[in-house]
Amino acid sequence: MSATPNGATAQPFASHSIRLRLNGQDRQLDVLPWTTLLDLLREHLDLIGSKKGCDHGQCGACTVLRDGKRINACLTLAVMCDGAELTTIEGLASGDALHPMQQAFITRDAFQCGYCTPGQICSAVGLMNEGRACDSAQIQELMSGNLCRCGAYSNIRDAIEDVVLGGEQ
Ligand code: FES
Ligand code: FES
Repeated sequence: MSATPNGATAQPFASHSIRLRLNGQDRQLDVLPWTTLLDLLREHLDLIGSKKGCDHGQCGACTVLRDGKRINACLTLAVMCDGAELTTIEGLASGDALHPMQQAFITRDAFQCGYCTPGQICSAVGLMNEGRACDSAQIQELMSGNLCRCGAYSNIRDAIEDVVLGGEQ
């Protein structure tokens, strides 16, 4: 502990203990109150699939699933995830079997540099879970939070349509 300029004793920042289920495994973690979920994943747990594009909730590259719903990990404090079930791109496959959305992205060649791809896939799985998208236009609208600098949008949409709408359109 150190003294502040006015002579008071500064308290060290306390970490918080959280429990969560991450990619099928129960974890107990100590996190600082300002650590974002994205930094927890990337910097502390070595889960670097989720990308830091803007760090401001504008690009979707950091999208992960919380209790099946898509969230921006850069806008979520890790302490807010106490008790949550989280799935990142690393946890979507079942053993060697890719998630159907991952396979569809490969089949449809729905990436170029791949930087946005983990977020696109997690967001698409979240979209699938929501059950709101009934046609191509709705998919386009509901995926508008995920940007792709490479402009692979048409192939991304084709891949998502294959899974969400069923079969190649
Ligand atoms: S890094 Fe989270 S939305 Fe861009
Ligand atoms: S594939 Fe490069 S940013 Fe989307």
